[in-house]
Amino acid sequence: MAACSPPPGTADIFEPEAREWREIERIGSEIFSRYGYGELRTPVFEFTEVFQRGLGGETEVVQKEMYTFTDRGGRSLTLRPEGTAGVMRALSGTDVMNQVEHRVRYFGPMFRGERPAAGRRRQFHQIGVENVGRCAPLIDAECIAMLAAVLRAIGLDGFCFDINTRGVGEDRGPAEKLLRDYFSQHLDTMCDDCRTRFERNIWRILDCKQESCGKVVSDAPDYVASFGEASRAYFDEVRRALDALKIPYKVNPRLVRGLDYYVHTVFEVTHPALGPQTAIAGGGRYELFLPGGRRPVPGVGFAAGVERLLLVREALNVRAPAPAGPAAYLIGLDPAARLANLALADELRAAGIPVELELEARSFKAQLREANKSGAPLAVVRGESELAGDTAIVKNMADGEQIQIPAGSIPEYLRKRSSSK
Ligand code: HAM
Repeated sequence: MAACSPPPGTADIFEPEAREWREIERIGSEIFSRYGYGELRTPVFEFTEVFQRGLGGETEVVQKEMYTFTDRGGRSLTLRPEGTAGVMRALSGTDVMNQVEHRVRYFGPMFRGERPAAGRRRQFHQIGVENVGRCAPLIDAECIAMLAAVLRAIGLDGFCFDINTRGVGEDRGPAEKLLRDYFSQHLDTMCDDCRTRFERNIWRILDCKQESCGKVVSDAPDYVASFGEASRAYFDEVRRALDALKIPYKVNPRLVRGLDYYVHTVFEVTHPALGPQTAIAGGGRYELFLPGGRRPVPGVGFAAGVERLLLVREALNVRAPAPAGPAAYLIGLDPAARLANLALADELRAAGIPVELELEARSFKAQLREANKSGAPLAVVRGESELAGDTAIVKNMADGEQIQIPAGSIPEYLRKRSSSK
């Protein structure tokens, strides 16, 4: 273990990268708010059963990827691998069970014990939303449109939406029979994982990424045709709405998503800059039983991986605007002047004017070097005579020109200079 490295699959985010993160969060929050989504902050760990029940015990995430630990009180807790289950747990204490709609957005770290790779972390971050309490095709389409709006606003034009339908509970039996009859004839050519999936959760075979399974999977029967009329009509309406919204999409019957709570619409987004295997966002409609509830509560939502959004932005050379640098560097020629500059800097910063200053007892030459390095267009120089006369020398760093101004007019002077740039 290198003492300076964080654990594998995690990262320290320094400036200026941190600025890119804030930009994603800022744009996401702004657009989500326009669609009526308010923020919900849930804990980063929950009782383990929140995820076991919510995501499904047979899912890869629950089986292999959760960071689960026992706390000192003997409770089993898990670092959240995703946001939806925790949001639903939080909403279970509200009127959501009476079909009242809740629109919530979230941002924060998620944890999955995956093999780290480019764009795959053990601590990663999602921006996401959940629209809970109602079920209608146009709600699903609006949710997809909101995701498209965020992607466009962060500069990710060229994204691709894959969509599919998972039907509802009653549709699954006949569709599973169709798939079982088909895959049972091909098991000998399929990968070990798919043979296990055949026994435990046959749907997972559809999103197998192994080459050996590719042909078998692409020739699988059209199970959506076996879904009931209502489910097919629901999906048709989602597609009509996406057409009306002019959102390009591809229907992908192999898209089943990795979590068990999905019904009806599911979707994933990729971008050519990261390739077709790496989803930058995913989501869909779901149903979850909440503690004490007799009926499942419906919802639709999505989450986008911030690390992946940033990788695409980097590939496309999209950057957040740089913040304003210091308006001036304050140079003090003796201890009294440096003390006066410390108070002046505080006053200027409180007035919204960014400045840097010398806090050590370095020579004038060294301070000028610092002033140059800081990128400030002006240096404000004060020594014994300036303090005595209540003035300051303002030096233009570009041409070396100097003027003397009254100390009291420094804030006004700097403000005018910054706004005339
Ligand atoms: P998910 O597809 O598991 O869905 O994750 C959503 C996004 O999180 C992915 O598309 C990807 O960008 C990012 N992501 C997932 N795992 C990693 C990782 N190990 N490293 C980096 N990024 C990652 C969900 O989490 C659902 N809760 C989405 C949802 C909300 N469905 C309905 N509502």
